[in-house]
Formats: sequence, C-alpha cells, structure tokens
Amino acid sequence: MRNGLRVAGALVGTAALLALAACSGDSGSDSTDGSGDAAGGDVEVFTWWAAGSEKAGLDALVSVFGEQHPDYTFVNGAVAGGAGSAAKDLLQTRLQANDPPDTFQAHAGAELTDYIDAAQIEDISDLYDEFGVTDVFPQDLIDLLTVDGQIYSMPSNIHRSNMVWANPAVLIEAGLDPAATYATLDDWFTALDAVQATGKTPLSVAQTWTQVNLLETVLMAALGADAYNGLWDGSTDWESPEVTAALEDFQKLMSYTNTDRDGLDWPEATQLVMDGEAAFNVMGDWAVAAFEEADKTAGTDFTYFPVPGTDGMFGFLADSFTLPVGAKNPDGTKAWIETVASLEGQTAFNQAKGSIPARTDADPADFSEYQQTAITSFADDTIVPSLAHGAAASVAVLNAISDATSKFTSGASDLAQYQADLAAATAE
Ligand code: GAL
Repeated sequence: MRNGLRVAGALVGTAALLALAACSGDSGSDSTDGSGDAAGGDVEVFTWWAAGSEKAGLDALVSVFGEQHPDYTFVNGAVAGGAGSAAKDLLQTRLQANDPPDTFQAHAGAELTDYIDAAQIEDISDLYDEFGVTDVFPQDLIDLLTVDGQIYSMPSNIHRSNMVWANPAVLIEAGLDPAATYATLDDWFTALDAVQATGKTPLSVAQTWTQVNLLETVLMAALGADAYNGLWDGSTDWESPEVTAALEDFQKLMSYTNTDRDGLDWPEATQLVMDGEAAFNVMGDWAVAAFEEADKTAGTDFTYFPVPGTDGMFGFLADSFTLPVGAKNPDGTKAWIETVASLEGQTAFNQAKGSIPARTDADPADFSEYQQTAITSFADDTIVPSLAHGAAASVAVLNAISDATSKFTSGASDLAQYQADLAAATAE
C-alpha cells in the first residue's frame, strides 16, 4: 500500500495536535489556511471505502486532511459493500432519523439529485469560491453537481466503469493472444469460448451490483452511445428489439461467469483474475488499484481494455462529498471538503484509488500508465453515464433494475420478463 507509512505517521501527528487543540479553547472559524481550524472536533466521514485498495485511497485522503486540518479528528463512518450496496440504505435510514454523518460520499448525477430533492444536503456553492476551485473542475461535471444554479457537493475523483481486466497467462493457456483487444462482443465471445475449453472461468463477476455494472457496459456496446443515453432520457425504448439483442448478449456473457458470484463482492471477482482462476473481469477502474496494491504489473501480470464495443466511450461516474442538512460539525465538514477539493488531496487519493482527479490542473505524470489512458479517454471520448454508480438513474430506478437483474441472473432467466421488468423499472 503506497501511502501506508505516511498515513500512520500523520494519524499519530494528528492525535498529538488534537490534544493541544483541545486545550486551546479558541472558538475559531473554519479557517482555510491549514493551520487554524480552531473549532476542531470529530468529523464523521461516511463512505463505503472500508477495506483493501478503497480504504487505501481513503487513508491517503485522511493523511492529507491530517496535515491540512490538524485540529479536526477524522472519524471513519465507512460501511463495507462495493458500490454502496449496504451503505446507501443505512445512510437513508440515518438521514430520515435526522442523524446524518458530517459528510457522506455521493455520486454525481441522478443519485445526487435524490438527496437534493429530499432536502438532505446543503448548497455549498460558496465553498467553491472560498477554496478557489470554481474553474478547476470540468464544466460537465459541475453541471452534474448543480441544481437550479446551486452546487451541492465537492468531487473527489472520476472513475471509468467500462473496463475489462485480464490475466495474460490464462489467455496464453487458452491459445489466445494476450495483447488482443476485441472490437465487438461477438469477437469476445470467441475468446471466452476458448477459455471455457480450458476449464477456467472465462469471465468473473460478483454480486448483483457488479452484474448491473456488466449490464450497463453491454448496453453501451450493443446500442452505441446515443441510444444508450436515450435509455435515461426516454428517447430509447426499453422494449425495442435493439434492447432485446443487448439483453441476449448480457445473458450470453453471464453464461461464462463463476457460479458462486452472488456470494462475492468486487475484490474477490477481481482476485480470481489476479490468481489465474479467471481470464477476464469487467469492473470499474477501482480494479486497477487492487492490482497495484498487490504489486501486479500492468502488461505483464494483468492487461486492460475497454469492454468490446465500447472503445471511444468513457463510462462515467464521480464520487463527491456533501454537507448534510443537520450535520453536527459543519465547520469540520467544510475542512474535509477543502481537503477533498485540494490538489494535494486529489493527487494522494487518486494515486491510491485508481480513478483520475476531478481537478483539471493535476499533473498526469503523477499517475499510473493506466490512469494516463483514462485521462486521455476522459478528454477525447464520448462520456456516457454509469447506471450502477449513480450517474444515469436515481437510486429508486437503480434499485428496481438491480432487483430485476438479480431475479433474472439467479434463476428466473426469462429474458422477455426481464426486459418487461427493466421497462417497468425505468417507466417513471
Ligand atoms: C463506486 C464508487 C467507487 C468504488 C466502487 C466500488 O460506486 O464510486 O469509488 O468505491 O463503487 O466500491
């Protein structure tokens, strides 16, 4: 873990400074100069970055927070479960009971709009001016964080959802070129058949949310960017033959996956590729952080390419941090948000997390070879919103799509019914 030593040191330093701060008695304000957060106190940060490379990313951010705001104490409110599969329900319970954390992780886009519409988070536009970051984020991203001219959260990173991670040794064993990429899903099926014949798992996947992540990439591949986008604004008919064909592709891909999938979360599915038990894994690019954390080398130990049929598209999602209505320590929240917004915070966090900085002034040279491809793709490719990670659809729609997907992949396997369920899920 790249930042382990720095994190440990910073936490000890923070504790010592906190003891001093507790004695100072200064009422203070949310000073932003990195030295004068005299208000101090606990700052509960609610995420789902609870373990492994995700926790390493959070730890890197906490380390910078400790340096920039030594008077505050980071309190880890992380709830395990990839993509917030457990955290988001728990968060909703807390918000409805007026017991918000001081800040929580939320995806830019439709998911953020849920919290805004429910009046659960505050407008933080003034912090953009105060921290001097109004112009450092891409305008498209700002638009996803803005409602009625007000900005509701601070982005920490941008992830890409439509990537395949592969084990070259398993591909060679199957007689495949480990450097091959595949232009279409049909080309890829041929390669998956070759792996199948070796007895290894062709495609690893985990519990439902990872299957929805796979589904979104198949919809991108089969429909193309415009028709995929149309699924979310009503201009593409979920009951069309094109969607039927996409769902057939999804069904075929699922036939290549590990049968223990529903009991796994994403790290275990990615681990199957790392360990040479599976050839491919479709996963957002938090996966690269898991490979790097395990000291795996790109090109040798693992390879990556966009999901076949989605080259030229960037499956977009961004994490961001909020100021909940009724937060107990709003000055502490602002201090955390300042660290999230800072170049130092974004650099440290994203180096460990596999994502790219939301800030446009970060230096690409500070990031891995994979991340540099993501920076280029984000700049040049067509941006399409992720379904599984809050960019494309509200939490309610995502939950309904997830339920339909789980029903389909865990036994029902009635494609017409699945398509009808998806149409109903999105027909609000
Ligand atoms: C996403 C989140 C990423 C990563 C992933 C897997 O929803 O945006 O930062 O944590 O889930 O847990």
